[in-house]
Amino acid sequence: MKKIVVLTGAGISAESGLRTFRDSDGLWEGYDVQEVATPQAWQRNPQLVQDFYNMRRKDAMNAKPNAAHYALAALEEQYEVTIITQNIDDLHERAGSTNVMHLHGVITRAQSSLNAALTYPMEGWEIKMGEVCELGSQLRAHVVWFGEDVPMIEPSARICQQADIFILVGSSLAVYPAAGLINYVPNQVPKYIVDPNIPDINRLNSMIKIEEKATVGVPELVKRLMGS
Ligand code: APR
Repeated sequence: MKKIVVLTGAGISAESGLRTFRDSDGLWEGYDVQEVATPQAWQRNPQLVQDFYNMRRKDAMNAKPNAAHYALAALEEQYEVTIITQNIDDLHERAGSTNVMHLHGVITRAQSSLNAALTYPMEGWEIKMGEVCELGSQLRAHVVWFGEDVPMIEPSARICQQADIFILVGSSLAVYPAAGLINYVPNQVPKYIVDPNIPDINRLNSMIKIEEKATVGVPELVKRLMGS
């Protein structure tokens, strides 16, 4: 089976009602991400950070996958698909994708604040101060903050090197190391980008541009790739 690698960003979840990072004048739900998504923010005001991610978790649990998520799941009928997502929602999984790598963590799991490798599934939407991991340290969102390691980046880069087809959906490619993944895709591999406002950067020039929102562009592209 041919291998398709899909790199997704906040734009694919926009039509599910989850806000992107850089569309709304750089604020994420009214907060500067540096205020709530850094280890310094956690040291400074852990309750604010906890509340911020509790709200994000509630939004993500209330959101529904959209036509773009479902179309990518359908690709698995004919291709070996790996979704590498920068998103912390689990909409790809809920749409049926079976091979999803979360570069920046996933909001449905809690994480030990002492050892990032210790994560726990969550039922509810809230992590409370005082809830601790097996080592006795405070639980936090299983999300990669600015300045923290991105442990999934090496395996993701290797996956990109194996791609027969590459698709980029809904990312401004503003944040590294995620944005650098595109460089691991071999030159001769067809690369598609689906985004209503395709960033005007020269490294995207070799890409086949589909200047549409995800719920229109992705199903269209999937239809083409599945020969229907
Ligand atoms: N369909 C497709 N793309 C869309 C849509 C839509 N309906 N609406 C917006 N977009 C596009 C925007 O044009 C933009 O290119 O989605 C992209 C969103 O870019 P960002 O907000 O920068 O999101 P993302 O690229 O995922 O951010 C990467 O930055 O803050 C960190 O860790 C955070 O994972 C995040 C990372």
